[in-house]
Amino acid sequence: MSENIADRYKDMIAPVITWDSKVEIVHGEGSWLTGANGKRYLDFSTGISVSGLGHQPAHVKAAIHDQVDKYWHAGGVFLYEPLVKAADRLDEITPPNIDQFFFMNSGAEAVEASVKLARKTSGRQGIIVFRGGFHGRTMGSVSYTTSKSMYRQGYHPLVGSVFVTPFPHPFRWGMTQEEANARALAELELMFKHEVTPGEIAAMLVEPLQGEGGYYPASKEFMDALRAICDEHGILLIVDEVQTGFGRTGDWFTSTVYDVKPDVLVMGKAIANGLPLSAVGASKELLSKWPPGSHGSTYGGNPICCAACTATIEALHDVVPNVPKLSDHAFGRFQELNETHHTIGDVRGLGLMIGVELVGEGRTPDPDAFKAVSKLALDKGMFILNCGPDGNVIRFIPPLNVSTDELDLGIDIIDEALTEYEGS
Ligand SMILES: Cc1ncc(COP(=O)(O)O)c(C=O)c1O
Repeated sequence: MSENIADRYKDMIAPVITWDSKVEIVHGEGSWLTGANGKRYLDFSTGISVSGLGHQPAHVKAAIHDQVDKYWHAGGVFLYEPLVKAADRLDEITPPNIDQFFFMNSGAEAVEASVKLARKTSGRQGIIVFRGGFHGRTMGSVSYTTSKSMYRQGYHPLVGSVFVTPFPHPFRWGMTQEEANARALAELELMFKHEVTPGEIAAMLVEPLQGEGGYYPASKEFMDALRAICDEHGILLIVDEVQTGFGRTGDWFTSTVYDVKPDVLVMGKAIANGLPLSAVGASKELLSKWPPGSHGSTYGGNPICCAACTATIEALHDVVPNVPKLSDHAFGRFQELNETHHTIGDVRGLGLMIGVELVGEGRTPDPDAFKAVSKLALDKGMFILNCGPDGNVIRFIPPLNVSTDELDLGIDIIDEALTEYEGS
């Protein structure tokens, strides 16, 4: 039997789960990973926006060790302090109307729970989702996911009464943000006229900045418009901040960046810096309408994960205020690259969630450019991921506590890789 991990993977791990790189890692610290080959890599994938504090942040590591020495599991049977402490910490950083929480294990589960909450408490069944959105892979969450049709193919019938409407994609549509917002809102009005009445809709489920869909910020104006439509029709606004939360876009949540009030806030990924935890937050008033026992989870809110969540939020208090400055620096540099590299079509995003769209002739998506650039970047010692339905958008998501030198190194590597690709 081969001892090579890549061979063992091929043999033992179901091929349905794909991996972005073939590199085996053995150690992680801060912004860096060490491969089994002994090489160091700058990790600007952050495990898909999970390790906001990089690898092994000391405060979180200590909290995990401390909890491991006490007890590991209590859910559904006993009361335990780490659960309440994590909720208290979330209460401090979420929008003011969000003041009660429950915990799950993954983003998809939290999305599922938010939709169940909306349906059960409103008595309505319809859910509006936005084209290009990603909300997970379980049967429910994949029914709300439209970032790639491949994710849904072969799984029909999906959950019913889900209505898909366009999300503003200004670059792809060749429009300004204002024009794209107007078009998306006009389509939503047409949906109400032709397909479903607003009174049948329990919730709108939206990412304030589409992640998998290509790093498209919604814009404050679009989110304000959705809020107004929801208020007019008694629809709940569920904001999925699984990828955008915990400082990633320049404040604790993109809802706070845009100053929009979600009725239900869905959180995951960076919530515990890599331990499996997710959460749904809403008002006590709304959650009081959800009958006890009508939802649950064995592992949701695991004590070790909750201890990690508390420590993550505590540590992020010193980090989140620096994100706008790092963001300005990164955007400034990417704008310079945009002027020198014809392969860059668009640079967009918020905070340290930056999409760099690579294009060919006539601004057509160029996935081959991403494949070449990411391979060259890996050779030069950096991991980057892509996003977007065509896989042509560099997803630039460094740790939030990255140093300016590391940030510059990462952008220099992309610059060099693009130069080599364009000269090849
Ligand atoms: C916005 C959003 N929602 C939900 C999910 C699903 O999270 P998980 O993979 O933890 O189930 C993701 C994952 O990428 C996501 O980006």
